[in-house]
Amino acid sequence: MEIPTETKNLIQKRIDEIRQQYPEAQAACLPALHIAQEHLNYVSDDVLDLVADTLKLPPSFVQGVATFYTMYNKRKVGRYHLQLCTNVSCMLEGAEELLMGMEEHLGIKAGETTSDGVFTLQEAECLAACGTGPVLQINDKYHESMDLKKAIALLDDLKNKSESRDLATPNADPSNPRTTPAVKPAAKPVAKPAAKPAAKPVAKPIAKPSLKPTTKPEAKPAVKTETKPVAKPAATPKAKDSAPAATSSASSDDDKDE
Ligand code: FES
Repeated sequence: MEIPTETKNLIQKRIDEIRQQYPEAQAACLPALHIAQEHLNYVSDDVLDLVADTLKLPPSFVQGVATFYTMYNKRKVGRYHLQLCTNVSCMLEGAEELLMGMEEHLGIKAGETTSDGVFTLQEAECLAACGTGPVLQINDKYHESMDLKKAIALLDDLKNKSESRDLATPNADPSNPRTTPAVKPAAKPVAKPAAKPAAKPVAKPIAKPSLKPTTKPEAKPAVKTETKPVAKPAATPKAKDSAPAATSSASSDDDKDE
């Protein structure tokens, strides 16, 4: 299978990204094979070599992994890969009758692909959803508790969807944005942004009145200090003045003696 350069680059980019999540390249082999199968429908020898080159693993290792697991398609399948579990639990729930009804509706037998390349029908071993059988796996999605009526409605819906899509990538899941390019909507005219209104002049904040009084308080009149009159020094008594006092006291003593 010749891999288009654009698809090859996309696969390598996705594998390089997922490789970062694993300590060893060998551990990234399973998810890398899933990525390749999403884009290319099945894992041919060229696809195995691409995975080996990208992960820098021996091709024999990648081939051993891909051929061990049944989830990797070794040959081309339809856009919708229908895998119906017919193991014991699902068989008891009517899987065999369901398989026959699907074969009749699609016009193919299990293991075949419809002529338009839309459906491949296969029997599968236990899909680990035994409690809700019969289980029908379509690409990566499980549809549980199936019966023929629900299966036919589902198949007709997928058929209608596939008719309106490009089948260039036959295994692309319409619900998977990684493998199905989104239809770009018509570009909406970009509305011009409304002209901005002229900037309002910024009002200067009103200056707060200063708390301090602007007028100087009137100077208090200086308190006039009255000048106290200087006390005149007491006149020193003259020596003559004291003498009479002594005399008078002496006279009084004389009076007492009388
Ligand atoms: S037997 Fe069908 S899912 Fe287990």
